[in-house]
Amino acid sequence: MKPIELRKQYLDFFRRKQHMVIPSSSLIPENDPSVLFTTAGMHPLVPFLLGEKHPAGKRLTNYQKCIRTGDIDKVGNAWHLTFFEMLGNWSLGDYGKKEAITWSYEFLTKELKIPAGKLAVTVFAGDKDAPFDQESYEVWKNMGLSEIHKYGKEDNWWGPAGKTGPCGPDTEMFYITDQKPCGPKCQPNDNCGRYAEIWNDVFMEYNKTAEGKYEPLKQKNVDTGMGLERTAAVLNGKDDNYQIGALKKALEKVKELSKKEDIKAERIIVDHVRAACFILAEGIVPSNVDQGYVLRRLIRRAIRQEKKLEIEKRFLFTVAEVFLNNYKLLYPELLKNKDFILEQLIREEEKFNATVEKGLKMMRKELETVAVRGVGTRGMIIRGKNMFSGKVAFNLYQTYGFPLEMIEEELKGVLVDKNEFQREFKKHQELSRQGAEKKFAGGLADHSKETTKLHTATHLLHKALRMVLGDYVAQKGSNINPERLRFDFSHPQKLTEPEKKKVEQIVNEQIKNKLPVTLKEMTVNQAKKEGAIGLFGEKYGDKVKVYSIGDFSKEICGGPHVKNTSELGIFKIIKEQAVSAGIRRIKAKLE
Ligand code: SER
Repeated sequence: MKPIELRKQYLDFFRRKQHMVIPSSSLIPENDPSVLFTTAGMHPLVPFLLGEKHPAGKRLTNYQKCIRTGDIDKVGNAWHLTFFEMLGNWSLGDYGKKEAITWSYEFLTKELKIPAGKLAVTVFAGDKDAPFDQESYEVWKNMGLSEIHKYGKEDNWWGPAGKTGPCGPDTEMFYITDQKPCGPKCQPNDNCGRYAEIWNDVFMEYNKTAEGKYEPLKQKNVDTGMGLERTAAVLNGKDDNYQIGALKKALEKVKELSKKEDIKAERIIVDHVRAACFILAEGIVPSNVDQGYVLRRLIRRAIRQEKKLEIEKRFLFTVAEVFLNNYKLLYPELLKNKDFILEQLIREEEKFNATVEKGLKMMRKELETVAVRGVGTRGMIIRGKNMFSGKVAFNLYQTYGFPLEMIEEELKGVLVDKNEFQREFKKHQELSRQGAEKKFAGGLADHSKETTKLHTATHLLHKALRMVLGDYVAQKGSNINPERLRFDFSHPQKLTEPEKKKVEQIVNEQIKNKLPVTLKEMTVNQAKKEGAIGLFGEKYGDKVKVYSIGDFSKEICGGPHVKNTSELGIFKIIKEQAVSAGIRRIKAKLE
């Protein structure tokens, strides 16, 4: 059975059980800034699991594209994927455990024809927050299933997807592969690979609060998720994800390009390129923050496998093309953004190749001093000192774009002083916020220049938004890094395309007008009198700095700013989205 057939069979089955098919949502969660990616089919459904009415009803089903980065280190083995597709069915306060489990069992054994003897399940054993899931246990037992394991929260509890929200005990279904048991007591939570988890029925009956409490939900829900790739693989008698569907095709492509064999390296490339394609299709570009950073890590990690395989440079896009072709019908966003995706992959690969050698040299040099520092006069390792400098690691990260994880991998066992790395990271954030570029050496100064430009662009954007949408638009938050500005503001609905275009156009006009940026210090009262906008909070003290951009904008701000808008380049909105009710967010950049 192909993945595409499994997808269809699943949706058809639940349609027959009166479920409505809903579309796959974006990989970037719409209303949840606490997580970077959609990690499960339930994610876009959180408000409805909490009681809001879903327009499609109480029984839903779909396939959802997901990204999970928690297990990124494990990618390269048979089962772990960064991007995967999840098949799911939901009861929003409708059916309960009995129906959910009965249908899962029916689908697995009757539709997919998996012999009951090849299945094992687990249920929640109970703890201080919630009792043993007796009901699920009984349902499985009555079904005649013999392998039923009871585990605690670490294995049989799912969610919340972010820090707070709906969650609950779950019952997981495993396919028992033909792999030999890892010992006499081999069982699902050994994670030895013999038991492949294929489906999870979660009983979302609790809400985790910010204080860490589990409060019972009024509405009892069911949230299930089946790993499409995994299930398709085991149904085909395969014991890894890469032997079927798009992953297989891409793996063949990688093998074709390689001079050497290394299955782990091949799988990392395949997995990471696929995930990168889907992230790029959302309009994210590689950068040093948020989703952009994950994307950069994925791309660079994939590139680094080229050595092990002796692949020619600039190979990522060739692998990407396999995916763009394969998913063109199911996920049209890939083909629609084909040029952008391929171009970004090529660009990031070139950027990385240009710096990698320099960075590696710097790393080796530092590594030598670690060895020297680490050995005491009598040849003993001095504890605590045989670590790779966190400062140098940060420098490698900042200047050469080496992800920390890659540095650790290259060091083969030598530990990085992570505390020092974090301290440097924070220090840099603070400094770049203040625009204190003088304190930095070399490349970093440029970054501060970029952030300074974006500060000025933020003022132009703020004013332009008030002109286009109305004077009620007020700043609700701002966050700037060398790559982009992020501006949160009050506005009740999504901006239309013409509104966005108009805002861009106004900002770009002011850039073209070469307006001088001037600074005046004054009292808060005077600033108000002069019609300055911005935050009038106490944090600014009695006197405030007011930046004027020609006659166009006047805003209270700590700075820093450029001297003239002509320094800015071309202003472009990359994304417009909701943050919470009544608050929108714009991400924009200068080109
Ligand atoms: N949310 C659950 C999971 O991800 C079921 O879909 O496993």
